[in-house]
Amino acid sequence: MANTAIAMLSLEEKAALLSGRDFWSTHPVAHAGIPTVVLGDGPHGVRRQFGSSDHLGVTGSEPATCFPPAVAVGCSWNPQVAERIGAAIGREARALGVNVVLGPGINIKRSPLCGRNFEYYSEDPALSGALGSAHVRGLASEGVGASVKHFVANNQETERMRISADVDERTLREIYLPAFEHVVMTAQPATVMAAYNRINGVPAAENHWLLNDVLRGEWGYAGAIVSDWGGIVDPVASLEAGVDLEMPGTRGRSKQAIVDAVLSGTLEERVVDTAARRVLTLTGLVDVSHEPFDAEAHHALALELATECAVLLKNDHSTLPLTHGARIAAIGEFARTPRYQAGGSSKVNAIRVDTPLDALQTIVDRHNSELMFAPGFMPDSVPSDDLLTRAVEVAAAADVAIVFAGLPETEESEGFDRSHLALPDNQIRLIRAVAAAARQTVVVLSGGGTVTVEGWHENVGAILQGHLLGQAGGAAIADLLYGFANPSGRLAESLPVRLEDTASYPNFPGEQGHVRYGEGVLVGYRWHQTLHTPARYPFGHGLSYTTFETSDLTVTRTGEDAATATVRVTNTGTRAGSHVVQVYVSTTAGPVRRPARELRAFSKIHLEAGESRIVSLDLPRRAFAYWDIELGRWVVAPGAYVIEVCQDAATVLLRQSMTLSGDIIHRELTLLSTVDEWLTHPL
Ligand code: BGC
Repeated sequence: MANTAIAMLSLEEKAALLSGRDFWSTHPVAHAGIPTVVLGDGPHGVRRQFGSSDHLGVTGSEPATCFPPAVAVGCSWNPQVAERIGAAIGREARALGVNVVLGPGINIKRSPLCGRNFEYYSEDPALSGALGSAHVRGLASEGVGASVKHFVANNQETERMRISADVDERTLREIYLPAFEHVVMTAQPATVMAAYNRINGVPAAENHWLLNDVLRGEWGYAGAIVSDWGGIVDPVASLEAGVDLEMPGTRGRSKQAIVDAVLSGTLEERVVDTAARRVLTLTGLVDVSHEPFDAEAHHALALELATECAVLLKNDHSTLPLTHGARIAAIGEFARTPRYQAGGSSKVNAIRVDTPLDALQTIVDRHNSELMFAPGFMPDSVPSDDLLTRAVEVAAAADVAIVFAGLPETEESEGFDRSHLALPDNQIRLIRAVAAAARQTVVVLSGGGTVTVEGWHENVGAILQGHLLGQAGGAAIADLLYGFANPSGRLAESLPVRLEDTASYPNFPGEQGHVRYGEGVLVGYRWHQTLHTPARYPFGHGLSYTTFETSDLTVTRTGEDAATATVRVTNTGTRAGSHVVQVYVSTTAGPVRRPARELRAFSKIHLEAGESRIVSLDLPRRAFAYWDIELGRWVVAPGAYVIEVCQDAATVLLRQSMTLSGDIIHRELTLLSTVDEWLTHPL
């Protein structure tokens, strides 16, 4: 279809296809039967704008279901959660006439300060890649295209349109590229979105190496590359570097620049043809049925999936689940006005919002017990002693006080980074005062960015990290607090004690236009574990109301430098629950410094009380490889490897060693080689 259509188009028409008709759609060409393709945000719900358009989430959009944002989905550690969200968003996109939904965002959380971390899954590429791929598959199952973003090294908002991420190639290959590579190789997304930033000085949207050599050449990507909104400076340079579609439209300016370049002989017309052909493949996604979606069913789905995402960080003396007769004090404005998504281009006009307060009231009414409420603080306003005093009175009168604390909406958003990790002072004071007065205290946290728990962690019995759970998050939290759902989320990013303990601290957010990725591959838990700088709660941490035992690890070689790890997991508690088997690889083999351990496989399984199951996880060759900058390829170093089944990134449950024969590499000897290289060379 694409080739026939291209042959019918003039140079002007082909060039017109390469930039938007307006903010959200491509140019149709009636005589060639080419329809317009509609793109829209993404990622955790559809943001369809019919009137005024913007990429900041300020001018409103059609009502749609707000599913849990990526920060929460990351903590589900369950690709099925991402896939079901993708499929539901796909149905809503079709109903709203959107053919490509902009997302998922799979950038690595390099610093907990990144203002847009709520839109990203994890600090780990394997987890981000698996979830991103599942989201794309979900959208595709409904005939809707994805736009995997932001390619690549878009890890901060400070100077986001021009910052240069100065990052060495091994770090790019091992940390920042693999999630994209995995999604491209396993799910072939309809589009990939080039990031705003520069990589080692070259804008992502003009980066021939990144787009044409790596993405298309090495990974075989056959879809279209779209710019981020307003991210093109030189349309001809971007086209030559591999960007097919510039968004939004530029009222004909880019088209003219491309036509002029061809006519003056500086741009080959076949480059225009190739890009136009790729844009035309997107017309296969156009669907005019506008079949309505079932908003009730999607709300129920949003609730079911949100319960999989919350992370029970702490639960001393089984403070949770709540007992049915207990008198409850819900404290904190977020109980009544919950945070469930964050600001910017991803902001969905939620169809409805469940509040924790209403959801708790429904449960309490069913059991004839008592629920009291005190706002305790008003986000973004000056601390109030009256609110604090009233909250303490309410807490003292209850059996359990639940403080709904978190990041105020104004403290995080697309467009800026945060400057610290603490909760607002008035909330810390509130938690401490409530904990001193209450018999038992639970803290429920909300917010898309990490907040530290220092200064109050020891004062409370339980902490449930809800992050941002989407429009049904309030009901999900109530179900989790009462044990109607069993928490099964695991942290997808380390929760540090201090900002200074985080890997990128000395180099974030950079200066004078450059941010140096000085920590190299030691991002997140790789840093904490390698430097023995403990996190308060490590990557992968999360409790349950039941207990699990992991036993009988067997590691079997399955071919050259590949293996399968098999373990038995038993639910040793009294209620059903889900457990995440986390398999890490640890080695010192090879000529490069390896992180202490790296997540290489995981699987979430649901087990009834007493049930036991054997789980097998594949460790392909790549699980053992590092990127060799001298050879420009993945290398498995000969030597010893330890396969570790972990509770979290800091806690090894079982381990088994194996030796791999690896790649035998004879590096060339020269007059500059060291004596050791001469003496150890096989020749
Ligand atoms: C964001 C993208 C978003 C686009 C369209 C940009 O500012 O970086 O993630 O999809 O706007 O709203």
